[in-house]
Amino acid sequence: MSEPFLIKHMSSGKFFHPRGGSENPCDGTEIILCSPIHTHMHWKFVRVEGQWGYIQHAESGKIINPKGGSLCSGNETELVVNNDRQQGALFSLDACNHHLVHKGGKFAHPQGGSPCAGEETKVVLHSDVHAGMKFAFVSPCNANQEVKVV
Ligand code: GLA
Repeated sequence: MSEPFLIKHMSSGKFFHPRGGSENPCDGTEIILCSPIHTHMHWKFVRVEGQWGYIQHAESGKIINPKGGSLCSGNETELVVNNDRQQGALFSLDACNHHLVHKGGKFAHPQGGSPCAGEETKVVLHSDVHAGMKFAFVSPCNANQEVKVV
């Protein structure tokens, strides 16, 4: 399991949070983009196969899944946290392209695709590639410093 890191939407500077910012979010809690930094929005990567693994909420141990858990989740499927460790929960962190890739082939996007996504914008899966869907994996101590997630 990796050291804790933050997931930063590069163009807006906002971070992946479980909605409500709880240390133990309920199953099905949506991932949204928010500005504050605290320990309840730290993530760890649990490698499972090759580059694929689970993105785990550091405090609760819950992992990010597309809502419904399907490997073939469609465009606009929201990301949530729960305990379902399955193929549909596998992601890879492509630090070169700054993409957060779902095993089904789609990418994490701010809902609506805006580069300046506002507070509490939901994070969804989508197949498009553009400048508004770049994410960086950064240090909890310095959100401007990218970290190598191993
Ligand atoms: C809009 C954009 C897409 C994508 C989605 C995400 O529809 O046009 O490229 O970013 O938002 O919700």
